[in-house]
Amino acid sequence: MCGIFAYTGESRESGRLIVNGLRSLEYRGYDSWGVALKKNNGQIYLKKAVGKIGQAILPDTNSSIGFGHTRWATHGGVTEKNSHPHHDCQKKIFVVHNGIVENFAHIKNVLSKSGHHFISDTDTEIIAHLIEQKLKKQKSRSQAVLKTFNQITGMNALIVFFPDYEEFYAIKNGSPIVFGKNKKEKIIASDASAIIPYTKKVYFLEDNELLIVTGKEEKLIDKQNKNGTIRYLNLSYDKQDVEVGSYPNFMFKEISEQPKVLRDIINTQRGNLGKTSQIIRKARGSYLIGCGTAYYAAISGSYLFAKIAKRHIDATIGSEFGYLTDFLTEKSLVIALSQSGETIDTISGIKKAREKKAKIMAITNVLGSTLYRISDYRILLQAGPEKCVLATKSFTAKIAVLYLLSHCLNGSYDQGVNQIKKAIGETERLIKSTQIKELANRLKNSQHIYVLGRGVSYPTALESALKIKEVSYIHAEGFASGELKHGVIALIKKGTPVIVYNPTDETYKDTLSSAYEMKARGAYIIGIAEKNSPVFDEFIQVNDCQEAVIIPNVVVAQLLGYYLAVSKGYDPDKPRNLAKSVTVK
Ligand code: AGP
Ligand code: GLU
Repeated sequence: MCGIFAYTGESRESGRLIVNGLRSLEYRGYDSWGVALKKNNGQIYLKKAVGKIGQAILPDTNSSIGFGHTRWATHGGVTEKNSHPHHDCQKKIFVVHNGIVENFAHIKNVLSKSGHHFISDTDTEIIAHLIEQKLKKQKSRSQAVLKTFNQITGMNALIVFFPDYEEFYAIKNGSPIVFGKNKKEKIIASDASAIIPYTKKVYFLEDNELLIVTGKEEKLIDKQNKNGTIRYLNLSYDKQDVEVGSYPNFMFKEISEQPKVLRDIINTQRGNLGKTSQIIRKARGSYLIGCGTAYYAAISGSYLFAKIAKRHIDATIGSEFGYLTDFLTEKSLVIALSQSGETIDTISGIKKAREKKAKIMAITNVLGSTLYRISDYRILLQAGPEKCVLATKSFTAKIAVLYLLSHCLNGSYDQGVNQIKKAIGETERLIKSTQIKELANRLKNSQHIYVLGRGVSYPTALESALKIKEVSYIHAEGFASGELKHGVIALIKKGTPVIVYNPTDETYKDTLSSAYEMKARGAYIIGIAEKNSPVFDEFIQVNDCQEAVIIPNVVVAQLLGYYLAVSKGYDPDKPRNLAKSVTVK
């Protein structure tokens, strides 16, 4: 859940470059940060701070090598002393780490008895001391790092920095570590987007491989402890794709990019989706899994497959899937949805499915991600880097892919494309309109907002509520309209805002009745529909585009969440307590 960035190269301003790199990775975790540099006069410069890195500037350090970390605390409070990098007793071994060392308490206890002195409350610090301890018995730094890594349990990614030797050792199981180099410099980072200003050629470390990087060379030791080969991949995006450019923030940038992302999908994915749909057709039992927004895309997918392709596909939360794998067989197909391709809850579910020999299909946005690599079949969303913590364009891209896959199975691909074109038109109109901004100003002091939908609009309601709550901190809940009278209605008071998705489909009449039932209890009804109705206190028009209506309907909630956050003075890109890539359980 953290950002890691290491630099070695010709620049004498490694501090500035590392801070820039960390800033671009901060969406991964941002409660505190730190850097360790070796100055060109041989001294060590260590800086730690609580809070976001913001516009921090390091003093002129005259350094060409060092690394840094933005933290998302799991063990030990958010304090300066707990910020990374951590070091051993002699300040000769520095570590930045992503993950949880599950057996840290026992190791810390043993090391303390051997005289090691700990400064922080983190699990991470034991790694530096354990390497120090191993180096007392053996000379090889690579073997000391490997043995340490093998001794710690849990999902971990780390870089060890030996300033005296100007060496980095990177190793992982779980969270990503990416390496890239140009003629003058080398970077190791937890996300390729931080490397793109330097090079588009990157290497994604495999689990349990050890990458050793010095100014002169880089070496890979594979899982069998033998020399390995660094096989580079070419990234498909450019520097401007990872920058905010003329937009006020990444959230608005990424909401605005949706029409382009959707056009790219209809223009480029036809062949791949056609082939992939055949794999789904042949499977005996298919399951869609994902977490958070990706789970809501999965539920949407189960409705789309049922309605359009007449196929039953279950949707399950990534973290729950592991408890449902007993019935999987080698003929089962598990379709994992994940923007990052790194979400640990999804990956763990996939690993369980693998044990049952089920086939895995990834629908992800990140080339080379863990999910991408461990899957049998892959669909890349190609939505470009999504840097705002909130998932926006990756959600609508997933919906477009699932919708087109359903149409492929039904033999009606072109019909699907036509509806997505209509959805793009609606999305463009909504992004330009000022109506949602004005609505946000009226709703910003609300304590609760409820969202209702039926059929394909039910997962839309769930996703909409998530968009509103995670960025505006207003309590929002999504419900299936039919569930209202089974409990939720007790919460409705005079003036309670209720958003009602009321597209002109088979759910139209029943949803409208629910709106009347809410209104009778005093609710303030915001209708999102093709047709206005007297029951709506506020009407946001979204014209018909069959089931692809999910796309513009969710865009309404993305914009509402965005404007609510901005009107309350919150940073929409980095909501409190959240991190973009959830790589710890
Ligand atoms: C949504 O706004 C959140 N960022 C979150 O629910 C996210 O979708 C979830 O954590 C899954 O992430 P993934 O798509 O990268 O697996
Ligand atoms: N477990 C470590 C800590 O709490 C690493 C957290 C992270 O991934 O940022 O410091």
